[in-house]
Amino acid sequence: MKKITEHHITDEKYYLNRRKFISSGLGLTATIGAGAGGLLLANSSNSAERTKGGSLLDKVKMTDYGKGLKPHSFKQISNYNNFYEFGTGKRDPAKNAHTLKPKPWHIKVSGECLKKGNYDLEDFIAPYQLEQRIYRFRCVEAWSMIIPWVGVPLASVLKSFEPTSKAKYVVFETLLDPEQMPWQKRPILNWPYTEGLTIAEAMNPLSLLAVGLYGKVLPNQNGAPIRLVVPWKYGFKNIKSIVSINFSETQPINTWQDQAAKEYGFYANVNPNVDHPRWSQARERVIGGGSFFAPEKRKTELFNGYKDEVSHLYAGVDLRKNY
Ligand code: MTE
Repeated sequence: MKKITEHHITDEKYYLNRRKFISSGLGLTATIGAGAGGLLLANSSNSAERTKGGSLLDKVKMTDYGKGLKPHSFKQISNYNNFYEFGTGKRDPAKNAHTLKPKPWHIKVSGECLKKGNYDLEDFIAPYQLEQRIYRFRCVEAWSMIIPWVGVPLASVLKSFEPTSKAKYVVFETLLDPEQMPWQKRPILNWPYTEGLTIAEAMNPLSLLAVGLYGKVLPNQNGAPIRLVVPWKYGFKNIKSIVSINFSETQPINTWQDQAAKEYGFYANVNPNVDHPRWSQARERVIGGGSFFAPEKRKTELFNGYKDEVSHLYAGVDLRKNY
């Protein structure tokens, strides 16, 4: 694992800019109803903002999620990534993800629901209020960050497709297009990247579909234009650049489980008491904290600190077996 030496600093400029107007890489122009749950993402002619690496989302509701947590900087969050479709190094996605075209973007909804279809991203997101939520992010590789996501609750979106009683799981897939995602030409993983949640996990209020961070549309390397954020689970569950959502009766095999079933399971809940077969999960390295020789470490928290919100989902479940 490559060590980095940047300090853990909040980039105030981005943090405070969040209410500044906007443009959207999603290419939408919509208005928000006063006080209602609309969304506003408007086109901007401000090319300067665009060239600075991302446009701004407007009408983002600030929430109390993560109140008191100090987010990592935009630079840190967008330059230390895992996105194997663009390379296996932490800096590869930032270098290589410019080939991804997040606009236009469609998402296929299929399986055990009444409203199947192929939806424009716009239709997906437009009815909902965008929220900023500051969440902890913990990678299975034992590093962590704090990220100010912008997104919509996954539950609201899923409910609109009217899942049937047979929908026990929700399965997500990333775009499969080796021209846009050049490392898909290599047999590193079984493409497309696939992830899943139980329907109860997916409907948990913490689950978010993120379209931005720091008030800006998601940089390509962070999973533009839309990715999953489930903060009580290891980072690999947070699938990027989603093009398919399937309501399934059966539990899917997710990509890392498929790759190494003894090391990665379906649940992947952050847990300091269940080690990875090759390393301890008791502590985590805070990205940018400390120095090269003495990196900042903190104790890993059960469910990444979201025990109160999610532990009921696993009542009676043996977390050692269901890792
Ligand atoms: N999604 C896709 N499609 N491809 C990937 O390689 N990597 C996962 C997850 N989602 C990955 C993915 C892993 S291992 C992590 S830790 C997070 O994305 C990293 O998210 P970040 O780069 O935004 O921090």
